[in-house]
Amino acid sequence: IDFRRAKYLTSAPDISFLPADVGVEVAFAGRSNAGKSSALNTMTDQKGLARTSKTPGRTQMINLFEVAEGRRLVDLPGYGFAQVPLEMKKKWQKALAEYLEKRQCLQGLVVLMDCRHPLKDLDVNMIRWGIAADLPVLVLLTKADKLKQNVKQKTLRDVKAEVKDFGGDITVQLFSSLKGTGRGEAIRIISGWLTA
Ligand code: GTP
Ligand code: MG
Repeated sequence: IDFRRAKYLTSAPDISFLPADVGVEVAFAGRSNAGKSSALNTMTDQKGLARTSKTPGRTQMINLFEVAEGRRLVDLPGYGFAQVPLEMKKKWQKALAEYLEKRQCLQGLVVLMDCRHPLKDLDVNMIRWGIAADLPVLVLLTKADKLKQNVKQKTLRDVKAEVKDFGGDITVQLFSSLKGTGRGEAIRIISGWLTA
């Protein structure tokens, strides 16, 4: 699959607005500001495809991008941010939970975590949820450009060791949208899921 051919499809405030539940989807989940939308842009080599921002809570809807006929990448709203009105937060979290629970065409989960503070409780929940749902999980330790070589290698080892105990099909890798670190490997894995 050539990710560079990705096209914006639609945005849905909740799952009732999504296109028909057919084909294959791979979703990008993670704490707010983890770098989900940036990773999507890096993988598709299109800077402005998914909306990114310094302010957490940028992605407020379920955003769908089609990389090939019936094969979609899904940019989800982030979880775990404090500075958003409770009512809005509840609304997005409900949409997120409903998407994860009900979407039959979801075939793989990418969980993105800032490599400087990985595996917060909500991240662990998300990874465990993916495994329980029998989905393959790709953990991306984002913003790898922010850490020194030895520190990021240690982080990678530590996270790998910790998620090993979760069982299931989990891959962990370093990723940088800024530098393109891990891009090829992530695309290879996600393409495999999309075409399985
Ligand atoms: P929400 O939509 O709010 O959930 O956030 P998100 O996970 O989509 O994060 P987004 O991609 O909008 O990025 C958040 C901030 O982190 C932006 O200021 C990005 O420029 C920055 N950022 C993302 N990826 C990287 C990276 O690889 N390196 C560096 N240095 N900064 C990054
Ligand atoms: Mg986003």
